[in-house]
Amino acid sequence: KVRSLEQQYQDITAAFSVSAKHVAFSASVFTGGAQGYIGPFNTETVLVFRHVATNTGNAYNPNTGIFSAPVRGVYHFEFYLHGHGHASHPAAASLIKNGQLIFTAFEGQPSYSVNSSNGVILLLESGDVVFVRLWQNARIYDTVNHHTTFSGHLLFPM
Ligand SMILES: *[C@@H]1O[C@H](CO)[C@@H](O)[C@H](O)[C@H]1NC(C)=O
Repeated sequence: KVRSLEQQYQDITAAFSVSAKHVAFSASVFTGGAQGYIGPFNTETVLVFRHVATNTGNAYNPNTGIFSAPVRGVYHFEFYLHGHGHASHPAAASLIKNGQLIFTAFEGQPSYSVNSSNGVILLLESGDVVFVRLWQNARIYDTVNHHTTFSGHLLFPM
């Protein structure tokens, strides 16, 4: 069955609007020159990265720390943690997709400073959520120099 020109035009327009979707964000913890620790808390806690460097497509919410995939596709994320050495408070957080732990960044040592990071490529369905969650009893630090960051972008729609 031959599709009408109108139908073909709609198909092409729909395909193009998906492939033209632009999604990319980068954020660090503190806004307005604030600095200090987040944690330790006695429960796992979503890290909120309030200082937005880039938020093309507004899929990242800087008030909640949660990224919501606007389209089905393959996405890349990375997160960098900075902290201070402490006998019982590592710089430790995991990237979570919906409720599921995907990858972890962890560094713990008794003194000096610590830096840990990780990255992942994920196939997400539209509406899937991704965020960075501080481990129970962990602690990170950030300053006006923006060491502790969360970034992500759509590589390609599927
Ligand atoms: C962690 O990063 C900070 C800030 O960039 C740096 O000053 C420090 O030397 C790093 N710590 C280690 C253990 O590499």
